[in-house]
Amino acid sequence: MDKFVIHKSALRGSVSTSGSKNAALPIMAATLLTDDKCVLHNVPDLMDIRTMADILRVLGKKVIFEHGTMQVTAEKKGKYIAPYELVRTMRASFCAMGPLLAKQKKAKVSLPGGCVIGVRPVDLHIKGLEALGAKIKVDAGYCIGEGKDLKGKVIYLGGHFGSSVLATDNVMMAATLAKGETVIEYAACEPETEALGLFLKNMGAQISGEGTPIVRIRGVKSLGGCEFKIIPDRIEAGTFLAASLATRSPLTIKGANALHLTSVLETARKMGAKITIRDNDDMVVVPSKKLLPANITTLPYPGFPTDLQAQFMVALTMADGISMITEKIYPDRFMHIAEINRMGAGVQRSGPYSIVEGRDKLYGAQIKASDLRASAALVIAGLAAEGKTEVMRVYHIDRGYEKIEDKIRALGGKVTRAKE
Ligand code: EPZ
Repeated sequence: MDKFVIHKSALRGSVSTSGSKNAALPIMAATLLTDDKCVLHNVPDLMDIRTMADILRVLGKKVIFEHGTMQVTAEKKGKYIAPYELVRTMRASFCAMGPLLAKQKKAKVSLPGGCVIGVRPVDLHIKGLEALGAKIKVDAGYCIGEGKDLKGKVIYLGGHFGSSVLATDNVMMAATLAKGETVIEYAACEPETEALGLFLKNMGAQISGEGTPIVRIRGVKSLGGCEFKIIPDRIEAGTFLAASLATRSPLTIKGANALHLTSVLETARKMGAKITIRDNDDMVVVPSKKLLPANITTLPYPGFPTDLQAQFMVALTMADGISMITEKIYPDRFMHIAEINRMGAGVQRSGPYSIVEGRDKLYGAQIKASDLRASAALVIAGLAAEGKTEVMRVYHIDRGYEKIEDKIRALGGKVTRAKE
């Protein structure tokens, strides 16, 4: 396994935002809705993307991925089984379920299983697909479905924690080929779900309201191929913003859509940063020497994203005062606390709440990454901490950050990859 060896660094310069992993994954699954060729641009080269490409191959597609462009064509007769070996490594593969039911009329997709960021059920996915008329049963760890006669329906998709991104995606995809109109109430409004809606429309789907809580889909007989450019990764951009704050380094983050980051920018400004947006695209960040505390509550979009909670917590450990972080999406997504406390942070957790007592400094230590975003947070902590930090198990970060160490090094960050 690889580790990162990191030394305290001042960062400077500009960094470009890659294409969004979480937009690309469901869009790749949506190519299962057609036999025609789909071409995706600005696809990030990541482990999760390669896993999804393998899933598409198992399901009968030919996938060519070069220099950020992915071509997906039908090679064999479409298959309908997505095996555990592939699905277990990545929950997003469960969104093959909707397209398979709609196109192949049957699906057998392994249930994704446990996850270190907390319990992540799929009840809303199943509720939505069953409402469209799919017959679904769970057997030996697989979700097995039949979708012979899918019919549009009004489906309320809100859950205990609000809307669900991938459940909305799954139902939206299945509904594109169902008979009649489907209305998804309490749909996820995340930009990635909106992007999926736009992609489906390019394929010929009739959808309105994508990116809002009410999405209407009128089923069509078939969908065709199309070309599409993946939107910028707002979470990657937000991660560099957190790095800028934590290391008190001025940075320009290029090619991010600032409109996708309003709650994050507001938080960074409360923490004392001056941020200028150029052409709605490039964010010029000048952090204050003294970081100010801020309270953060993670919420579905356009609220503060759970996927940036850990990174901002690291910056707040060095703020001048006390901050409170409330995790309303994944109440157990706090695995990073024990690690950053070993670096001298003062964070106390009680259930979904964390109190962050700002301290002057963090100190380098050997720390262990637990999931993708926590890993990014630990790398930020390493860049901000005195002395040397070793972040173990960085395979997590390779799942979701394209060329992370190259990007950090280009900004002057001292990070090297080594064997554990
Ligand atoms: C997506 O996961 C993202 N993954 C996650 O990013 C992200 O953290 C999450 O949305 C929240 O923004 C991808 O897009 C591939 P949800 P998803 O269904 O869709 C509960 C990362 O680091 N829920 O919107 O699986 C759920 O437990 C990853 O890139 C149910 O109760 O998340 C959570 O509390 C990690 N029943 C809330 O809804 C369900 O059937 C929102 O989860 C589904 C979800």
